[in-house]
Amino acid sequence: MPALDKDFTVPSASRRSFLSLSAAASAALALRVVTEPMLARARVKNVPVDAVRIDANENPLGPCAAAREAVAAIAPQGGRYLDNLTDDLVKQISAMEGVKTDCIAVQAGSTELLHHAVCAFTSPQRSYVTADPGFEAGMSIAPGMGARVVKVPLTKSYAHDVKAMLAAAPDAGLFYVCNPNNPTGTLTSHADIEYLVENKPKGSVVMVDEAYIHFSDATSVVDLVKADKDVIVLRTFSKTFGMAGLRCGFAMARQELLEKMYAYGGGNFMPITAMVAASASLKDAQLVPERKRINAQVRGEVFAWLDRNGYSYIPSQSNCFMLDTKGPAKAAIDAMAKQKVYIGRIWPVMPTYSRITVGTAAEMEQFQAAWQKVMTGAVTASVGAIPNAGELGKRKRNLDGIVIRA
Ligand SMILES: Cc1ncc(COP(=O)(O)O)c(C=O)c1O
Repeated sequence: MPALDKDFTVPSASRRSFLSLSAAASAALALRVVTEPMLARARVKNVPVDAVRIDANENPLGPCAAAREAVAAIAPQGGRYLDNLTDDLVKQISAMEGVKTDCIAVQAGSTELLHHAVCAFTSPQRSYVTADPGFEAGMSIAPGMGARVVKVPLTKSYAHDVKAMLAAAPDAGLFYVCNPNNPTGTLTSHADIEYLVENKPKGSVVMVDEAYIHFSDATSVVDLVKADKDVIVLRTFSKTFGMAGLRCGFAMARQELLEKMYAYGGGNFMPITAMVAASASLKDAQLVPERKRINAQVRGEVFAWLDRNGYSYIPSQSNCFMLDTKGPAKAAIDAMAKQKVYIGRIWPVMPTYSRITVGTAAEMEQFQAAWQKVMTGAVTASVGAIPNAGELGKRKRNLDGIVIRA
């Protein structure tokens, strides 16, 4: 029986229902999705309304004007399923990416698709191989499938070390490459991903998560999908398109790979608000270049300020970067929160770094003022016992939303 986590209080009725969970229910709990906001905000409660929230890689610009108008216009039809809207979006993606419609799967965010791929391609015999530091959603699911999680350090330039990934897991079922990487915002070259695909163990699959690709100069590997390789490309409307709360993501892969993922979910009707917002966003030809430019400009200004003040960080091409806290990152995160600037999170392999999301120029000015106070000792916080990102990855929520240790 898993121990209840001391950081969370459990009402007695819930405790009783938890204790009476069947083995099947326990197994289901081990496969609950772990999401970016869950990871980012596990410990954050009662956030003031005027706080600066640069802790979950959200886009402060939100949906573009056309997407907002489309959402408002479709609202009166909210009583209908309107599945034709999903078909329309799939056709639009197909035309833009040059991928056949039956090689595209749309879901309410790409986390679900990532989850289904881990279920489909890992097992006690087939491991899950990922970078460290890397996005944790997949590594939290793989143990529920009985799979070994193989974490491979990034290279010196913070790219995925594809040769080390291959060497570490001759039993690989799924290689996960996040490009640009979350949390470092650093790139892995197309050539390296191609090398991984060409040299991977027979029967394994390479999943390339391009959630942040539109912020960067990275080359997509959608060409490998078109070439019928064992490759899944994940995209989301949550980042550049500013639709995290509206929920839409998609996967592109050979139909046979998608069919294996469908065995674990998908196929439900999509929210019509998300469908029309995604369609309208894709029609806005200026959206991606404009948002890439804005993000790069704000990020560049923050980096210039950090440079001028002698603070170190890992240069990034994304909407987040790792900032050197020069000591336990938890203390810096807490001292920032005291000033209503919410940053984080921490990756166990980099305990003296905190991830920072690039917000608006005004938000980043507040960040800079608060950071200066933390680094000069004007505002401090003590380090308490906390669940870190690695520990959280081992936790699952029960049906009452209570976090338990698996
Ligand atoms: C690397 C990466 N992939 C996928 C996602 C999933 O995003 P969503 O489920 O909102 O589409 C996130 C969210 O932050 C992410 O950071």
